[in-house]
Amino acid sequence: MRVDVVILPVLLNPANLAGKTAVVFDVLRATSGIAAAMAVGVASIRIFSDIQSAVAAAQADTPAKAGDRPLLAGEVSALRPPGFDLGNSPRQYDASHRGRRVFLATTNGTKAIVAASGAATVLAAALVNAGPTARFCRTLGADVTLLCSGTEGQFSLEDFLGAGAVLAALRQTGAVTIGNDAAITAAAFFTARRDQLRATLASGQGGHNVVAAGLEPDIDFAARLDALEVVCRVEQGLIIRRA
Ligand code: MLT
Repeated sequence: MRVDVVILPVLLNPANLAGKTAVVFDVLRATSGIAAAMAVGVASIRIFSDIQSAVAAAQADTPAKAGDRPLLAGEVSALRPPGFDLGNSPRQYDASHRGRRVFLATTNGTKAIVAASGAATVLAAALVNAGPTARFCRTLGADVTLLCSGTEGQFSLEDFLGAGAVLAALRQTGAVTIGNDAAITAAAFFTARRDQLRATLASGQGGHNVVAAGLEPDIDFAARLDALEVVCRVEQGLIIRRA
């Protein structure tokens, strides 16, 4: 199994995703939140690359059952947009959301998921579900591209750390062929920082943004390696379900 790391969506060559598994990371905070939502049992998360599209889809939605309107979730500058039901905090999901449909639009993470949609299988992952995601990739058997969302077009340390965590977990499941220099570096970075995950997340620009928004406990949540036994798979129409 060959594993490549792509440090930003703009560096992704969609032709290189054919037949592969793509795993998308936005550790602070979109993919940590997706894992948290799936773990509490939301029915599905529909992915949108921008807030306006999510709002329009929610307005046009005709629920199959009465009362099953979608919950709008997302962020602008880390905060819940006006009129939205939910923000982008992974801590916000609880049993009251079980069975609900969520429509999600965020600044970087959901755009990266859209960018990866040409892969044979697309997964959303973070530190919180690195191990389960790696084991699922191994069952699929295809080569893997680990795609980091970055922060507004810039490299982000937390997504690279997440990619390194899945790569380390993949190595525990069997042979891995490291595909590129970014994969070598992500693996080394995770190995060097695995005992300081929280401090590492807090040290980057994404961490600073979360702290500035008054949401520092989200960093604690996102740093909990393998805390959630959940695999988040993107299916037709960019809808995430438990694999
Ligand atoms: C994103 O998708 O850009 C992030 O998850 C932003 C955030 O909520 O901090």
